[in-house]
Amino acid sequence: MATFVLVLGTVVAALFLYKLLGHLNRPRHPLPPGPRPWPIVGNLPHLGAVPHHSIADLAKTYGPLMHLRLGFVDVVVAASASVASQFLKTHDANFSSRPPNSGAKYIAYNYQDLVFAPYGPRWRLLRKISSVHLFSGKALDDFRHVRQGEVGILVGALSRVGAGTANLAQLLNICTINALGLVMLGKRVFGDGTGVQDPKADEFKSMVVEVMVLAGIFNIGDFVPALERFDLQGVAAKMKKLHKRFDNFLAGIVEEHDRSIANGTLKHDDMLSTLIRLRDNPDEEGNRLTNTEIKALLLNMFTAGTDTSSSTVEWAIAELIRHPKIRARLQHLVFFSGSACLSGGTTYWCVCKGGLGDAFLQKALDYACSAGTDCGPMKQTGACYSPNTVRAHWSYAVNSYVYQRKGQAQGLFWLCFPFEY
Ligand code: HEM
Repeated sequence: MATFVLVLGTVVAALFLYKLLGHLNRPRHPLPPGPRPWPIVGNLPHLGAVPHHSIADLAKTYGPLMHLRLGFVDVVVAASASVASQFLKTHDANFSSRPPNSGAKYIAYNYQDLVFAPYGPRWRLLRKISSVHLFSGKALDDFRHVRQGEVGILVGALSRVGAGTANLAQLLNICTINALGLVMLGKRVFGDGTGVQDPKADEFKSMVVEVMVLAGIFNIGDFVPALERFDLQGVAAKMKKLHKRFDNFLAGIVEEHDRSIANGTLKHDDMLSTLIRLRDNPDEEGNRLTNTEIKALLLNMFTAGTDTSSSTVEWAIAELIRHPKIRARLQHLVFFSGSACLSGGTTYWCVCKGGLGDAFLQKALDYACSAGTDCGPMKQTGACYSPNTVRAHWSYAVNSYVYQRKGQAQGLFWLCFPFEY
């Protein structure tokens, strides 16, 4: 009997506490419809193994504006383009801050970066500096030559591999990091620009990939605050360890820049120099940055801006390998990107665009010869050998290729004439 009273008393007390906590935690504003949350875990069990699929299914029942309770965190889901636009455009300022999470705390210098800084004057300052130096159309135009240069180095490194095997993922990553390094720091981060790999590049890529992996783990402590301190999955411990590795790397970059500024060897005014100036002297509005904020911004750019871009290109190339027809169309487009083709009645001819280097034209020429064009007339004994310039041979090859494709019959004299403008 005493046991029964004890059990009953415990159940009643637990229910009372649960109701009381539920009442205290109840949001002050009405929330959109959603599946009924479970005690403690809320709607976490509704997410299943593939959360975006489960959420899409739930939206079919509850509509495009839906409320979920993940642990103790209220989440409002926008599940249609028009509702998303309400959040991202109409009410943008109200929803600009990202929710707190352990990655921001342990990796991103406790929210002192751009990605996780709450919306406000500090975020606006970091965002303005990033826009001027990196994100604006003007910045992109100004640094076109940097991207082209690094892509040129990548292509050179790939063509040196020849028929061997290339680690494309790594080369793409180095290309992206170095392009970003040149814009942000005024120097490459890895390698000397000859495309030769730097062992530190592997270490760096592994750190960036680890950030992505850790950021993607569902960390229970982010949703049930009472459990945060126990770090049940060991995620926070891994983040702290990774943060130390990143901090060493970034501190080294800032210190080196400080030294270059001090001894007058810095040649360019890059983004890091602007950040360092704002650390050492406030701007006209009294804004200043700390060393930690500088490292945090570098961390953002080198993580958000490297693996994203290089993996996208790697993915696109993997898709091209899987789809030979699309690959052939692309090769065809690249091949013709050097030419301006004109149609005059029943005839069709192509002229070489000005300003193109021989290396580019030679590649197009090789492509035409490998794609079935009869390149015999360009050989030393052939009718189109002379004038013996890449440009003239290009003219022959590209026109011959076009005529052959269009079933157009043309005399060799016409073909051999090196048109250009
Ligand atoms: C294929 C390449 C990329 C993809 C798919 C991508 C995707 C994204 C997405 C989805 C966001 C979140 C936007 C939001 O919450 O409103 C974002 C934010 C951001 N990205 Fe990228 N990104 C790419 C390349 C880059 C590059 C090259 C950089 C830097 C050089 C960069 C730096 C950032 C930063 C700093 C933010 C946070 C901006 C803020 O909170 O104000 N990203 N990116």
